[in-house]
Amino acid sequence: RYESVPQPPGDAIFGIVKEFRASTHPSKVNLSIGAYRDDQGQPWVLPVVKKAELQLVQSPSYDHEYLGMEGYAPFVQAASLLVLGKDSKAIKEGRVAAVQTVSGTGAIRLAYEFYKNYRKDAPILLPRPTWPNHPQIAVEAGIKTLEYRYYDAKTKGLDLAGMLEDIKAAPPRSIILLHACAHNPTGVDPTPEQWKQIAEACLSRDLDVFFDIAYQGFASGDLGRDAWAVRHFEERGFELFVAQSFSKNFGLYGERTGALTCVVGSKETAAKVTAQLGRLTRALVSNCPSHGAKIAAVVLNDPALYAEWEDNLQTMSKRIQTMRDQVFDILTKELKTPGDWTHIKNQIGMFSYTGLTKAQCTALRKDRAVFLLDSGRISVAGLNEGNVRYFAESLDWAVRN
Ligand code: LMR
Repeated sequence: RYESVPQPPGDAIFGIVKEFRASTHPSKVNLSIGAYRDDQGQPWVLPVVKKAELQLVQSPSYDHEYLGMEGYAPFVQAASLLVLGKDSKAIKEGRVAAVQTVSGTGAIRLAYEFYKNYRKDAPILLPRPTWPNHPQIAVEAGIKTLEYRYYDAKTKGLDLAGMLEDIKAAPPRSIILLHACAHNPTGVDPTPEQWKQIAEACLSRDLDVFFDIAYQGFASGDLGRDAWAVRHFEERGFELFVAQSFSKNFGLYGERTGALTCVVGSKETAAKVTAQLGRLTRALVSNCPSHGAKIAAVVLNDPALYAEWEDNLQTMSKRIQTMRDQVFDILTKELKTPGDWTHIKNQIGMFSYTGLTKAQCTALRKDRAVFLLDSGRISVAGLNEGNVRYFAESLDWAVRN
């Protein structure tokens, strides 16, 4: 009956993780998935998360009951506040619709389902390049995708002119997906001045704006600054959808902790949109996992723990920056690797878009057991004192061959 089902291609990211796990190479390096590792290459449970989790499970009232369709309220409210900020007019005026989601992917899928119902036939514009799951989720949700230029391979920076041109040529009232910070995969973000121009262009086509913020706290190390673009768009009067992931900034990867925050026109609309998102959640997953949301809520709602969390974020982003600096120094000062490698230092967030070709990436995986994506993206968090030299030497080898 199902013999004709074709074998799908391996996932662009999880597929490489699988290859890494299967490798028996003694020096194998996993730079594929965006998951933080400590300097020993091990997963890092944030100390503040450990503390909050203990506090939570030791509480006599802790249980494993279902959450409601809209999720755990103390978490959802704190999530909206985290991204929109305490000065948000929308929060003050009660114009925020929000629900818990199955992390960032779940938030994106839920938003797409909502658009499909209430923004019928509107296509969604995605940056080129983008996180490979963005178009994939759209295909499964039955939403048409278009692209806008984002990255300029020549300058290894933002193609602002191309981006603005494509936005201004988009079908009016399309939906546009913007990475709020730490663009995945390029690590290239617009400056505040550039964001202002992007907002203008979106206004000119009356676009529905959808932010994906999966790395708040990882770009500048400052939670507020990383949400600058979202807050600017809110100030400009946009109605917005924002997909939030807590996988990276809380290290809650497997707990699938996320939220969808929407700024809408009125309090009445907010109530209806929240109820619709709850209805769609019920049909998709019934309700979300509770454990991660409860941990995050403990931290987000306690000023002392919140400060500790900011500290933990600093630990992660500083280590990533040190690795960027070390790769750059080894390539440029010691190995004299041909080419300009300043982008390794300048790109921000968890990823670096190395500029290596697909053939070089394949060779690195096959011959050196350095597992990076075909696009040339590396997760800098996979580097540490023990493997950074091997990685830099392998990169040098790939460039020279
Ligand atoms: C990544 O881009 O590596 C992460 O966002 C993990 C994922 O789900 O793809």
